[in-house]
Amino acid sequence: MARVKIVEVGPRDGLQNERQAIPLAVKLALIGRLADAGLTHIEAGAFVSPKCVPQMADTAEVLASLKLDGAVRYPVLVPNLAGLEAALKAGAREIAIFGAASETFSRKNINVGVHDSLARFEAVAQRALAAGLSVRGYVSCVVGCPYEGDVSPRKVAEVAAALYRMGCYEVSLGDTVGVGTPDRVLAMLDAVTAEVPVDRLAGHFHDTYGMAIANIYAALCAGVRTFDSSVAGLGGCPYARGASGNVATEDVLYLLHGMGYTTGVNLDAVTDAAWQIADALGREPGSKYARARGRS
Ligand code: HMG
Ligand code: MG
Repeated sequence: MARVKIVEVGPRDGLQNERQAIPLAVKLALIGRLADAGLTHIEAGAFVSPKCVPQMADTAEVLASLKLDGAVRYPVLVPNLAGLEAALKAGAREIAIFGAASETFSRKNINVGVHDSLARFEAVAQRALAAGLSVRGYVSCVVGCPYEGDVSPRKVAEVAAALYRMGCYEVSLGDTVGVGTPDRVLAMLDAVTAEVPVDRLAGHFHDTYGMAIANIYAALCAGVRTFDSSVAGLGGCPYARGASGNVATEDVLYLLHGMGYTTGVNLDAVTDAAWQIADALGREPGSKYARARGRS
């Protein structure tokens, strides 16, 4: 049976935008439950400026409590060499560098334009690979940008190809604001797969307009077999006003298992984790599945 890999991004992409302080113990409990549910790739934090994203300021403490050389991978976002040094010091085994296909988004997000960001990421990737780390890449705004509107598939392909050439084992294509529809996602994938093999791509869909599941289905039809998702549909992006969370892991699992794909992830256990983090944040889970199933 065909297998699909899920990269759980809730503890990073999900929590980075929360306004309320989230205790370390709550983060660790969430990550523990996600690992127990069978998720093997759990993005655990980001070594970015705490002034820009205060919720990720305790990433070193998060990593200090995880088993970093076991079966579960805990990638962390790294924007520059300073972030890489912090990640290495904290014992990270995998990092993610994060570029964008939109000039304005790149400047707002990481304070540097696309061209210069790629030079910066190249230095980070070289040093990380030399230190034996795995490097994942992100391209944001693969369909649209909150500042510039439509983004051309060709630009996405250029940035994805650059990240792939730098040694990223996988490039995650982010519909950061969730504006994509299946036709536009397929046009974007058509351009990107001319540069990067489809088995090296991941789909990262935010669900602002309720299109994420439709876009995942389209990407599956185009051969993509890795998807990023966030337990309880947590999240947003601090540099993309109005962007809602990533597609919920529970809803993606419901789609995939219903279609006969295997994931190795227990849907019920993820749904329990969704209710627990939603309770900790004082609201209902953002996923259709968790609300339909209810508490266990
Ligand atoms: P900069 O202004 O170019 O950096 O910021 P700088 O070298 O000029 O330093 C400015 C300040 O930042 C200094 O501190 C540095 O020490 C500090 P100050 O002197 O003002 O006190 N600094 C750092 N601190 C901690 N860790 C670091 C670091 N580097 C510098 N690594 C920087 C560049 C990237 C750091 C900043 O703009 C930043 O942190 N931005 C936040 C980026 C971010 O986390 N965005 C959200 C994640 S991306 C996302 O969600 C999209 C994604 O999910 C995919 C999708 O959905 O599309 C991945
Ligand atoms: Mg995201």
